[in-house]
Amino acid sequence: MLQNPAGKYRPFQPIGLADRQWPNRVHTHPPTWMSTDLRDGNQALFEPMNVERKMRMFRTLCEIGFKEIEVAFPSASQTDFDFVRELIEGGHIPNDVTIEVLTQAREHLIRRTMESLRGARRAIVHVYNATSQPFRDIVFGMSTQQVVEMAVSSVRLIRELAAAQPETEWVLEYSPETFSATELDFAREICDAVTAEWGATPDDKVILNLPGTVEMATPNVYADQIEWMHRHLARRDSVILSVHPHNDRGTAVASAELAMLAGAERVEGCLFGNGERTGNVDIVTLALNLYTQGIAPGLDFSDINAVARTAEHCTHLPIHPRHPYVGDLVFTAFSGSHQDAIKKGFAAQRPDAIWNVPYLPIDPADLGRSYDSVIRVNSQSGKGGIAYLLETGYGVILPRRLQIEFSAEVQRHTDCHGGEMSAADIWALFSQTYLERSRPVRYVEHHLYERDGNQGIRLSVEVGDVTHLLNGEGNGPIDAAVHALRSLGIELQVRGYEERSMGSSADGGNAQACAFVEVANTAGCQACFGVAIDVNIVTASIKALIGAAARIAERVHPALAVEAA
Ligand code: KIV
Ligand code: ZN
Repeated sequence: MLQNPAGKYRPFQPIGLADRQWPNRVHTHPPTWMSTDLRDGNQALFEPMNVERKMRMFRTLCEIGFKEIEVAFPSASQTDFDFVRELIEGGHIPNDVTIEVLTQAREHLIRRTMESLRGARRAIVHVYNATSQPFRDIVFGMSTQQVVEMAVSSVRLIRELAAAQPETEWVLEYSPETFSATELDFAREICDAVTAEWGATPDDKVILNLPGTVEMATPNVYADQIEWMHRHLARRDSVILSVHPHNDRGTAVASAELAMLAGAERVEGCLFGNGERTGNVDIVTLALNLYTQGIAPGLDFSDINAVARTAEHCTHLPIHPRHPYVGDLVFTAFSGSHQDAIKKGFAAQRPDAIWNVPYLPIDPADLGRSYDSVIRVNSQSGKGGIAYLLETGYGVILPRRLQIEFSAEVQRHTDCHGGEMSAADIWALFSQTYLERSRPVRYVEHHLYERDGNQGIRLSVEVGDVTHLLNGEGNGPIDAAVHALRSLGIELQVRGYEERSMGSSADGGNAQACAFVEVANTAGCQACFGVAIDVNIVTASIKALIGAAARIAERVHPALAVEAA
């Protein structure tokens, strides 16, 4: 059992921003996105990407539409250094894309980092040092002044080295690492010292990136921290305020969304939430959350499966089947009530209307996903899903009462065999139940005639090995067939009749009719359906009637079913 955590863990203290503005705001536009898949994401892998995988990821990020991409930690590995050189020397960077690299605030690492960027058209140099109390006291043994001096001297060195490489347009990014655990006054002090040292202006803005290096509190607390910085930073017009949430508490997406309301203009994250520990914020989810609010995110996920397969190839990490928007199961409903609502939603959705399908916050087609997997059937499913699969896969539209009857057959089957039933499995069961099974009473042929304004029928049926020629009259072919069957001792009441056409060519030439006849025996019980498909409408309905009669006979005398099977 978990121990009482009160003596071991401290709750995060709210920052007391009484007049916070972010709760009343709504999103109106996307942030500037920065992908750190090739840096934060890469450094968190069992096996960091090689150059081939890095290049494939870089191309994919460019195709998606990222304009800022953190491509490496060049001072940390030779592969990363070489990759930056290859991007620049190989001319792989599109004109509208700016590469970014990360460095710790240490002189030799900064020198090597700047060296890696030689010849770049434009580059963001991202320098960081940790600012929270445990890092100051335990990890570095530094005072706050020394931590500020570490940041400022690093920025000074970057400025000098940048001046010596004037062919490149330089942008500075500074991150007070562990910002989310840092006293706000101190975070502001160090950020202001950095922008002052760089000489930030509205034409030469510094990116101040405020990371939730470790997610420490609920997203509203992070939003308060960001709004406080947004309101208190010096030279605010010369700063691009950026956030970099991690997902330690599982709320990185919410943290980023609230931070955007609180003043963040830029978001750093990874595809599908890759990154250190529980991951960086998932940019795909963030972008598509905006999309479902009617806001174009500026990133293209119209073939989300292709992006997912690339991410899996490059990271060697699988994407969870329930991952928002992309998981294999996220557009799948097994439960009967969900299937029923989705089926009705699809039927009601007009192509040019606002998307309004229950249980589907986004149209799967917008992401290049098909509707095929939306409804899947297992023992939790109901009639709606079964009917949907037969309709979309086989063009058979079941009457509602037949949906109920057949779903009991499906339920029996899934309870007995377990697992999922594909559309093909359901069709096979439907055919076996209604269309193909050998029955105690079987249709052979019929001829219609008219007498005294009545419909007459001569009907041949087989019972066992014997063929019977029956005669009957009624007010239509079905009624006449009901009367004909009486001479065999089969007493039926027709409770309902429907018929639909299936699979037609333009001239109707290949059309078939599917007839559904619901009958009860004259005792008024044992109602059940017969179904038949035939090119001739009348033949289909008479076959369906005989099928229903045979099914009733099997129910009343189960031995008949065994003999016929
Ligand atoms: O999570 C973090 O704080 C980082 C910084 C280097 C920005 O990745
Ligand atoms: Zn990070």
